[in-house]
Amino acid sequence: FDTKTPQSRTSEKHSFAYISARDRWPVIITGGIDDVHRATAAVEDPAIQEEGKRIVEKLAKLKYELQHDRQLTPLDDDGQPDIVGYNKELEQLGNPKWFNVPWLYAECYLYRRISTFFSLTTSSKWKNYDIFARQKMATFKSSRPAVLELAARYKDIVTELESGAAQEKKSDEEVKAAEKILFTEMAEICLWGNATDLSLLTNLSYEDIQKLQGSKARKEAEKNILANDLDAAFQMLLKAQSSGKQERRIDIVLDNAGFELFVDLILAGYLLSAGLATTVVLHPKNIPWFVSDVVPSDFSDLLGALADPQAFYTSLSDDEKHAGKKAEPLKEEEVAQLKFLFERWAQFHGNGRLVIRPNGFWTEGGSYWRLPGTAKELLGDLRESELVVFKGDLNYRKLTADVSAWWDPTTPFPEAIGPLGPGSGIRVLALRTCKADVVVGLPKGEDERLRATDGGGGNTGARKWAWSGKWAVVQFCDGKA
Ligand code: F6P
Ligand code: MG
Repeated sequence: FDTKTPQSRTSEKHSFAYISARDRWPVIITGGIDDVHRATAAVEDPAIQEEGKRIVEKLAKLKYELQHDRQLTPLDDDGQPDIVGYNKELEQLGNPKWFNVPWLYAECYLYRRISTFFSLTTSSKWKNYDIFARQKMATFKSSRPAVLELAARYKDIVTELESGAAQEKKSDEEVKAAEKILFTEMAEICLWGNATDLSLLTNLSYEDIQKLQGSKARKEAEKNILANDLDAAFQMLLKAQSSGKQERRIDIVLDNAGFELFVDLILAGYLLSAGLATTVVLHPKNIPWFVSDVVPSDFSDLLGALADPQAFYTSLSDDEKHAGKKAEPLKEEEVAQLKFLFERWAQFHGNGRLVIRPNGFWTEGGSYWRLPGTAKELLGDLRESELVVFKGDLNYRKLTADVSAWWDPTTPFPEAIGPLGPGSGIRVLALRTCKADVVVGLPKGEDERLRATDGGGGNTGARKWAWSGKWAVVQFCDGKA
């Protein structure tokens, strides 16, 4: 169940794989060292301090090995079943060095290895510690303008849907057209929420990120969606709705915490309120992953912030105090809008219509081409769903097997996702802003056109236009057809 085409490698100097390994990963590990260092300094217990110091040493060693192009070493066994697979694959790859290894495997290995530094400790302080948690909530807080805008919009939409006011005095066709506009808006909010993940913070400023989040920016960005199958996905959901089927589930394979999780919940809540789904299943990761990916505690942190938004926005962290920030209280109306969100989501969660379902498969080192071979149960579960939405760049790389020479960009999406394509029994919708080289399903000539734009890569052989999150693809494959 693997692609026969070799995958993108860190040795390819014109690829984002190389740039990631050379420039981005050291910065990410250094951030982790700082975080553990600070957390260690803040505890009193000498045993916990000692373990903190050991973790810092292991992180520093990892960074050294990466920067000096040493071999990847087998992972220490922390008792989880995926370790055997990681180590077996490492052997099959011939115990490669950091700058000559498939990009996808190496990047997964990096985060999995970091997680062993924590899982192998004994104190509860470190066992499930997330070195990225501080950053995740800080960036969520800095998305305040967009969060408030969306909360207000969500309350209006849901109140109208629930009162049925939208349906009054309208023909069936008008209702359908209005529903489609709303669905598109919600899905696009959810799509662009992916442009703002933390792993790219190494080259995007907070200001850049905030610019990407407002509604004006979203309209503007519609022309940057290079392939857009939203309509096909919407028609399929409408069909399922009118078929009278009682249970209609939508799954979201989550990507990043903070603002992106917030917009994922906006979409999930909308789908439930609009009756386009009866249940939404969310799939987070089990371990801190690619910096900002959602782990179950991010979900509770976010709901905790929304449960008492005034406290969240007016309490300042040490960093904020240090930077001379002043607390800016929310207006009463804003508090009410955020609480409305919290109550709806907590209610959906409480009555089992919004479910969180982690699975170890999502943090294995291979692509999703392996799903039918190595995660049969998970595949069986996803087949129960009407639609499985895959968020973000890494999920897209895993869907398309992150192949080298990358796919010809005009390869049809259903072909590029291999075993998850036609006949798989699942319907896939990828909502992805491009932050890596691989891209498929583009009209002929589009890649060439984009390479010729300013900073697009030109004749360098690098597909630079696809690295920044500025462009996106929304691609659908009906594997049940
Ligand atoms: O492009 C940088 C990168 O870290 C990729 O390695 C990875 O695919 C992506 O960012 C993570 O982005 P996302 O959170 O959208 O999956
Ligand atoms: Mg991510």
